[in-house]
Amino acid sequence: MEFSIKQSSSEKQRSGCVVVGVYEGGKLSPAAQALDKAAAHRLSDLIARGDMDGKTGSALMLHNVANIAAERVLLVGLGKAAEFAARQFLDALRAAFGALQKTASKDAALYLSDLAVKDRDEAWRIKQTVLIAAESGYRCDQLKSKPAAAPALRKIMLGCAAKPDAAAQQALEQAAATARGMKLAKDLGNLPGNICTPAYLADQARSIAKKHRLKATVLEEKDMQKLGMHSLLSVTRGSHQPAKLITLEYHGGDKKHKPIVLVGKGLTFDTGGISLKPGAEMDEMKYDMCGAASVLGTMQAIAEMGLKLNVVAVIPSCENMPDGAASKPGDIVTSMSGQTIEILNTDAEGRLILCDALTYSARFKPDTVVDIATLTGACVIALGHVATGLYSNEDKLAKELLGAGDYAHDRAWHMPLWDDYQQQLDSNFADMQNIGGRAGGSITAACFLSRFTKDYRWAHLDIAGTAWKSGKDKGATGRPVPLLTQYLINRSTAK
Ligand code: BES
Ligand code: MN
Ligand code: ZN
Repeated sequence: MEFSIKQSSSEKQRSGCVVVGVYEGGKLSPAAQALDKAAAHRLSDLIARGDMDGKTGSALMLHNVANIAAERVLLVGLGKAAEFAARQFLDALRAAFGALQKTASKDAALYLSDLAVKDRDEAWRIKQTVLIAAESGYRCDQLKSKPAAAPALRKIMLGCAAKPDAAAQQALEQAAATARGMKLAKDLGNLPGNICTPAYLADQARSIAKKHRLKATVLEEKDMQKLGMHSLLSVTRGSHQPAKLITLEYHGGDKKHKPIVLVGKGLTFDTGGISLKPGAEMDEMKYDMCGAASVLGTMQAIAEMGLKLNVVAVIPSCENMPDGAASKPGDIVTSMSGQTIEILNTDAEGRLILCDALTYSARFKPDTVVDIATLTGACVIALGHVATGLYSNEDKLAKELLGAGDYAHDRAWHMPLWDDYQQQLDSNFADMQNIGGRAGGSITAACFLSRFTKDYRWAHLDIAGTAWKSGKDKGATGRPVPLLTQYLINRSTAK
């Protein structure tokens, strides 16, 4: 999809469809008023007749409206004018794009991002419009032998009453880059385990690096042996696919500035290993690399934006398979940090690959490290599919990430990382065990990671509930690319 922003009059705009808002009770937005005036009150007549009540989420498509340059007019309900806030704005956008995608319009002119939204600025309205538009046009038919026809809607113009300023233009470009990053994350997430292997992820990283002048490095298992990454290697023992440790370096800032390191869990398939998972919905464990995919999507997005800061991606990637060589419950391994781990459950493998990747991250002398992982089913029980679980060893960092997620509408919730939980990881035989029991499972997983992140500022995002959707609309969501890119945008402009 292509996006532009332009000062224009709704009634004169030539396009497949012109989209305007109507408040509950019949009040017209300024762009709708202009249409109504040009079309001899056709809109207000329809509203008076009761065909459009203006309730949030409602939409009415009109064809061939006299004296209107566009082929179609889409009226979108905004709800009560006094209550028009972020939520109503987003609902209206979803309704608008839902209706637009059902038509054959190749392009559309939207007069929605110009509406005042409580507590939100123009850049936010532009960004959300772009992200929701891109979401509505996403299809995953990479692997269908006869892909359905591509969505007709290709061009979106955001119309506004005043000439858009540089900030508006920048918001549009940043959002388009974020949307492309989300698409990359979704495409990778949706690929099955037999295609999206660790080697495939490494190739993807190399091609992003080539296109955007980043530096890619891929460590092989023999390199990991030398580094002492026996925890990571214990997870891949049952697999025929070689594990990879992928790094991407983006240097957009001053050489002297320490980088932000993003660590993404890249389990290309998680069977549970010898602690085998039950069969139902096991296919969804192809999504266990969504942390890695979100990191790749974010790297691509910030490189396209040319953000002025340094960012490193570290992606540990392997499969978790049962096999004669696989790790067994009770096995004890020595991590790169030197700490020993008793593997009581081979299905708690994410933390085993992340701990070595986190230790490895220290070599980049990071300012901040954020890891992103589909880490625990317990996080889905705690927060459902709405919020990502956020843990940090510094409250200021937690606040920054929460703020970025809130602004990007890709929200996280701050969870406790108190020492009181640490004892659940005590082992009789090693420095720690890799599971902490059923109680607080997402928290004890974060506690496990915290033992490897003492030397730097760190946060952990448990995206088990937010990285993909199950059921009829099964598919990767592209989260938390919006949160991460917004955090990096904020960091790149902070004093
Ligand atoms: N990849 C899973 C986490 C997961 C499970 C994400 C379900 C989304 C939905 C992770 O590797 C895992 O298996 N975690 C175990 C940990 C347990 C054995 C302590 C879990 O959550 O059941
Ligand atoms: Mn697992
Ligand atoms: Zn897993």
